[in-house]
This record gives sequence, structure tokens and C-alpha cells, in this order.
Amino acid sequence: MDSPVLNQLFRQLFRHPACQYLRRQSPSLSRPQSRSFLTRRSSPTKRKSLDDGMLWTKRGDNPRDIDQEYWTYPQVTAKDLRTRRDRPRQVKMSTREFVDDSLYNPSYGYFSKHATIFSPGEPFDFNRLDDGPAFQRLLGQRYTEFEDRLDEVTPDVSRQLWHTPTELFRPYYGETIARYLVSNYKLTLYPYHDLIIYEMGAGNGTMMLNILDFIRDTDYEVYQRTKFKIIEISPALADLQLKNLNETLNAAGHWDRVEIINRSIFDWDTYVHSPCFFLALEVFDNFGHDAIRYDCRTELPQQGGVLIDADGEFHEYYDLQLDPIAARFMRVRQTAARRPFPSPLGPQLLRGVRSVQPFRNPYTLPEYVPTRLMQFFDVLNQYFPAHRLVASDFSTLPDAVPGLNAPVVQTRYQRQTVPVSTPFVHQGYFDIFFPTDFNVVEDVYRALTGKLTQVTSHEDFVHRWAYIEDTETRNGENPLLTWYKNASMLLTV
Ligand SMILES: C[S@@+](CC[C@H](N)C(=O)[O-])C[C@H]1O[C@@H](n2cnc3c(N)ncnc32)[C@H](O)[C@@H]1O
Repeated sequence: MDSPVLNQLFRQLFRHPACQYLRRQSPSLSRPQSRSFLTRRSSPTKRKSLDDGMLWTKRGDNPRDIDQEYWTYPQVTAKDLRTRRDRPRQVKMSTREFVDDSLYNPSYGYFSKHATIFSPGEPFDFNRLDDGPAFQRLLGQRYTEFEDRLDEVTPDVSRQLWHTPTELFRPYYGETIARYLVSNYKLTLYPYHDLIIYEMGAGNGTMMLNILDFIRDTDYEVYQRTKFKIIEISPALADLQLKNLNETLNAAGHWDRVEIINRSIFDWDTYVHSPCFFLALEVFDNFGHDAIRYDCRTELPQQGGVLIDADGEFHEYYDLQLDPIAARFMRVRQTAARRPFPSPLGPQLLRGVRSVQPFRNPYTLPEYVPTRLMQFFDVLNQYFPAHRLVASDFSTLPDAVPGLNAPVVQTRYQRQTVPVSTPFVHQGYFDIFFPTDFNVVEDVYRALTGKLTQVTSHEDFVHRWAYIEDTETRNGENPLLTWYKNASMLLTV
């Protein structure tokens, strides 16, 4: 722990019982939880309304007026803060920029400090396990061993351990994706083009290794024409990917097929004219989102942001003027939607009735809209015009903060997961991850890239492309199918 603020935070958190919740786990496995701690999210009551469109909501135990600060503090972005070593004070920023800064700032961001992706070491031998609970017990054991080993080298009470299908079901999940890639490559591109695969956000690099091993072992001719390029924002993970590539015995020979590019996809500036597959597996969920709430009477949107005062306290505010990125998302979604999309205002038919009810809150809860994801589609469209996307992420998440499409915000302390009820928390110590509304996102992607798509559940995709007997336990249960029931895939067809 590195600061008095954090000490204070944890003291506050642990005055109340903490609860268990594993990130990236099927909802059926999450425990019931209480939110009695850290209830500093203020009610969305309007405190002040100014003519020029700023509405703010005070936060904290001793609310105070922030008008003066609002008008004098500069509006900053995560990019502006990239070179800062300390968390900013006396600034204001949109929710999207706050999330990005909190997760990706190179000095204090969550990805640079505490995020670790669990690796089970040896693959699980599902066929020899009795049933699903036996798999879960063994996973728990491997988790503890993995973390014990990490703590021996670098103790970290706030380490966050993720588990992804790539790691839990290695090499089988990687082989599943590889089967999809090779089949589609052979159907439409072979022999006129090479098989070029980009993977954005490759974690430990396991998917790359599993895909290349599979192609080499099953279709050497295609393997000779395969190139695999990783685009990875985290320097630590890019190093780990390289290390894992070097250390894997099977990787001998993959060397000249692989390129690891340590860069955020949002800084990409190279035009790739060749047809390629573009993998994005569990990356969308950490992209910054904007918080939009609505005036229940006028139905006009307001954009949420946070002001950080001289003492580092957070004050949430809403602005009637949407910034150009948020405004564009609203326009694109409205134009692209092929079906009604959910709104915190509720179904269209009921809105008139509801707005005349006395004593009702003048504003809705916020909806969190995927503005950064929209910008990622712009990058695909501009620099990878011949790409085919293979994206997978969570379609729903349990235990999120209040709101529509709202994120889960959680930290981990002494190996216990601690969820909180607002995204505006000490930057760098909390994972902030969002569900993806695949219906909306598919329409936005189609509109921005002009490509045709298919959305499928993780389970259906795996049914179609996996050898599911590889991950079956002795009683016939199949964790590859039953875990990650809350995940879906978006595929360019
Ligand atoms: C939850 S991990 C998933 C890792 C891997 N795909 C898997 O399924 O095991 C998210 C990954 O995305 C990377 N990432 C997040 N934002 C990124 C960005 N803007 N550009 C490139 N990589 C990014 C993270 O550093 C990390 O490697």
C-alpha cells in the first residue's frame, strides 16, 4: 500500500465484512454480497443547476460547493495525464477519461501495478476429473499455489488475479479459435493470401502459442504462411508474452512468425491493406465508457464526469453539453440501431405516464455507453479495412454499480475480492470492467465498418468449433460449455 489515502480507504472497507467475488467467472459461481461498505456514491439528486448547463452532485461525508473549482479547473484527458507520476488533483474529466486513466496510466494505472492473469501451469486434465466441483476445487488449489509463488518474489496485498477461458481451458480454447480461423481462411483467402492474425490485448500470450502450435501440428502448409502479431498496451504483459514465447519448448520455430507490438490500439497509425483476422478476447470490458443520465421530464441527456479537488476528493457532476465523442456515439447508435435499445428512461410507451408522477427523481440512473469501443471500430475501419473481427466478452455482469450497462468496480485485498459501488475510487487500485450489449455494439460496428456480422453465445461458438470431449469430466459435465455462460462473441462474416 503506497499512500495514506489508501490506508484510509482500506480501513473504511474492512470496517465491514468483505465478500468473495471472482472476476471473469460464471454468475452461478458468485457469492451473495453485501454493499454496506463504501456507500459514498451520492444519490443522483440535483443540487445545483447553472444556466450554462453544469449540474453537479456532491459526494463525500461533508458535501461542499464546487462551483468555483468547476469553472477554474482544467478539463483533462487520460492522454494528458499519461506522463504524470502522481494521481491528478485540481482537474475535471469525463467518466470515460477517468476510467482510462485509472486503468492504463503508466505510473499508477491498474494495469501497470496490480493486474495479473492467472496461469494454471500444466493444462487441466478434464477427462480425469470426476465432475465440475472437482474442477473448481483443483482450480482453487492452483490459484493459491500460483499466488504463493508470486508472493515469494513480490508480495502484493492488492494483486488482482484474472482468469480467462484462454488460460483455464488451454490449449483447447485456443485450438477452438484456431479451427475457426483456419477454416475461414481456407474457405475465402487461401491460396491467394497469407494467414495474418492480429491479437489485441494478448495477456500472457497463451492464445498465440496455442493457435500457432495447433496450426503447425495440423496444417503445416498453412503454418508456413501464418503471421501472428500482438498489439499490447501493457509493457509488463508484452515482456511476459515474449518470455513465454522464448520459454515454451513447443514455440521453437514460432519465432519468425511472431511480432509483439507494445502499443495501445488507440495509438495505431499503420495502414494494413492485407486481409487479416483481428482477435479481441476480453479486452472490450476495460475500455472507457461514458456515463449518460437523462432528465426525466425533457428526456435530454447529460454527460457524467468527476472533479478531483485539491485534497484528492472526488465530486461527481453532470454536464448538459455532451462532448463530441459522447455526442457522436449517441448519434451513431440512434442511426444504426436495427431494434429498440434499452434506455434508463424505460420503454417508450411508459415514459409519458412516468414523467407526471409526483416525487419522482428528476434524473434517471446513468447508462454507461461504450464510447472507446466506438473509437476502436474507427481504428479498425481506418487502418484494417480488410479485417475480420473475432471478439469475445461479457454480455452481462453480476454485482455491478447502479445504472444500465454499469461496470463492476472491485479491488482485491489480502486475496479477498472487494466490490464497491462507484467507479470514482482511488485510481490504480480497482479493476473497472463493463458488460457489452452485443446487440447495440453489433449495429454500431456494422454502421462504422460497413461489414456484416454474426453474434453468438460463447457456448454456441464452442459447441460448433471445439472438440468438446477434450474438456469433459468423467460424469459428462463440460466446464468449457457451462462456464462463461455470460459471454458472447461478435464475428465478422
Ligand atoms: C483481461 S486481459 C485478456 C487477455 C487475453 N486476451 C486472454 O483472454 O487471456 C485484457 C488484455 O487487453 C490488454 N489491453 C487493454 N487495453 C488495450 C489497448 N487499448 N490496446 C492494446 N491492448 C490492450 C491488456 O493489457 C490485457 O493484455
